[in-house]
Amino acid sequence: MTEKLLEIQNLTKTYYEGTAECRVVDNVDLIVNRGEFVMIMGASGSGKTSLLHLIAGIDESDTGTITYALPAPPPSSLTKAPVWRHTGNHTSDFSHMNEKTKAIFRRTNIGIVFQQQCLIPDLTVYENILLPMMLARHPEGRDRNLPSRRKEIIFNLCSQFGLKEHIGKYPSQLSGGQQQRAAILRSVVNKPPLLLCDEPTGSLNSAQTELVMDLLNELNRNGQTIVLVTHDRKVAVRGQRVVYIEDGHIAGELRFPEAMSDDSSRELYDERESELTHFLQNRGW
Ligand SMILES: Nc1ncnc2c1ncn2[C@@H]1O[C@H](COP(=O)(O)OP(=O)(O)OP(=O)(O)O)[C@@H](O)[C@H]1O
Ligand SMILES: [Mg+2]
Repeated sequence: MTEKLLEIQNLTKTYYEGTAECRVVDNVDLIVNRGEFVMIMGASGSGKTSLLHLIAGIDESDTGTITYALPAPPPSSLTKAPVWRHTGNHTSDFSHMNEKTKAIFRRTNIGIVFQQQCLIPDLTVYENILLPMMLARHPEGRDRNLPSRRKEIIFNLCSQFGLKEHIGKYPSQLSGGQQQRAAILRSVVNKPPLLLCDEPTGSLNSAQTELVMDLLNELNRNGQTIVLVTHDRKVAVRGQRVVYIEDGHIAGELRFPEAMSDDSSRELYDERESELTHFLQNRGW
């Protein structure tokens, strides 16, 4: 059964430069269901990053709503009463949140990965992944075993995703792909319901891209909902559908009949890639 995680209705965002008006997000309607892996494609400047920033609540829309089917954070994580729309069926809407509540909502519910991963250079892989765990106010805050449980979680994640021998290294001692995988683990360590990725493989070679996408596909198979912006067709075919953006609006969507798995054959990848190429060419790509 499909269950909605996020619903975007009538979203618009306009930037003004002098008298020039640039509508970067134009009347977007989009639903993302739990467990989906949605790819967003479109030419440079078409508004993909702008849309992602609105979804993350980093930026504010002019009109429209973004409704998350997620409850408010636990009251213990809020020091002051928030402006929070929390209806019976647990929906939360950015337009009803103040900045502080928005930040807490984002920290609790949304993991974000950018093209140039932003690991903190003076912290090891272990410490980088630990950081969001320290920042999130877990209900078990006073548990004495918390440090050792956190350590176990980080070691398990790094072992599972090929970073075990790099856990004590600094970002400068890692390849781009290893850094990006560490950044992804850091973004999902608190198990956010939604992971947003903006060209996470944009600066990687094809071997590193494959490893990063293997990690994201594995997280998705484990139930992680992902929305990912990419220019790369080989990356886009790893999702369940591709949403095509043109001049800020959704100009088409291509759905694949099944999710990729470990056993997906090379033929299936090639078949999907040519289907996607055809879809994009029809839209002037
Ligand atoms: N803060 C801003 N002020 C004014 N214009 C902006 C601002 N941010 C983005 N834009 C403009 O909005 C348009 C969409 O930008 P956006 O970054 O969303 O594109 P994109 O699809 O992510 O492009 P790319 O593929 O190159 O990353 C661009 O024309 C850009 O110049
Ligand atoms: Mg962008």
